[in-house]
Amino acid sequence: MAQPFSLSPLPWDDNALEPFVSARTISFHYYKHHKAYVNTLNSLVEGTPYAAMKLEEIVHKTASDAAAKKIFNNAGQVWNHDFYWRSLSPKAAAPQRDLANAIERDFSSLAKLIEALAEAGKTQFGSAGPGWSRPAASSR
Ligand SMILES: [Fe+2]
Repeated sequence: MAQPFSLSPLPWDDNALEPFVSARTISFHYYKHHKAYVNTLNSLVEGTPYAAMKLEEIVHKTASDAAAKKIFNNAGQVWNHDFYWRSLSPKAAAPQRDLANAIERDFSSLAKLIEALAEAGKTQFGSAGPGWSRPAASSR
């Protein structure tokens, strides 16, 4: 029987987000994490009614079902990775409409938001840490 879920292609080359996100990081999350979640989900749903459902339907139906926790975790991670890839772009674009208004309201400018994000990232476990600096705009 055909596998119901497949690894969606990346919307850009794996080095397209450098220098902000390395090809190594993309490869790790795409070819290891994402692929493993897809393969595990396919094996977990084989022969079950979940095999005929859309990914979002599986996430909704298993979210509060302790017996389906493995299916929920893997379906959720497939969805998360798909969403993450589609949320990133190698082409810089200014925030529009509601997002632009919210940034202006809460941070006063996009530059201030970027500063706040960089500062917050320095204290997150697994971040590049205090030695990190934003790559020059000309290298984008
Ligand atoms: Fe990942």
